Amino acid sequence: MKIALACDHGGINLKTAIKKHLEKLDYEVLDFGVNSSESVDYPDYAAKAAKAVVDKEAECGILVCGTGIGIGIAANKIKGIRCATVGDTFSARMTKAHNNANMIALGERVIGIGLGIDIVDAYLNSSFEGGRHQTRIDKMMALESK
Ligand code: RB5
Repeated sequence: MKIALACDHGGINLKTAIKKHLEKLDYEVLDFGVNSSESVDYPDYAAKAAKAVVDKEAECGILVCGTGIGIGIAANKIKGIRCATVGDTFSARMTKAHNNANMIALGERVIGIGLGIDIVDAYLNSSFEGGRHQTRIDKMMALESK
């Protein structure tokens, strides 16, 4: 399974730790940067990873910035993306189960490395429940063309 990863300078330590963790678990990682601590603009990196997800180069994506908020909002501007900013494992599981989120965004300065890795595992190890949730997702995605 291929996973797109991207971050800004505020998320580089957590993104690096997630990449190492995923590769150890034999996931294939598409790393869209950033790979230095120089200040960058998170929408540029959110867009790269989000496009890989909508183009089906990756099955899902994980984004990291300082708060997880800016990079998550930016990703949701790309048509077809459902990105949830999550700071706990329950939300990570639920956003896959109910929203079928194809990306999650994490805030390194908020959650740190240990919880960040647990959240990634919770998200990747959950499954979409379908049924009434698919109806709601269809309605949500229809809003993109309004
Ligand atoms: C960068 O300083 C910071 O604004 C960014 O990482 C993120 O927290 C924005 O939402």
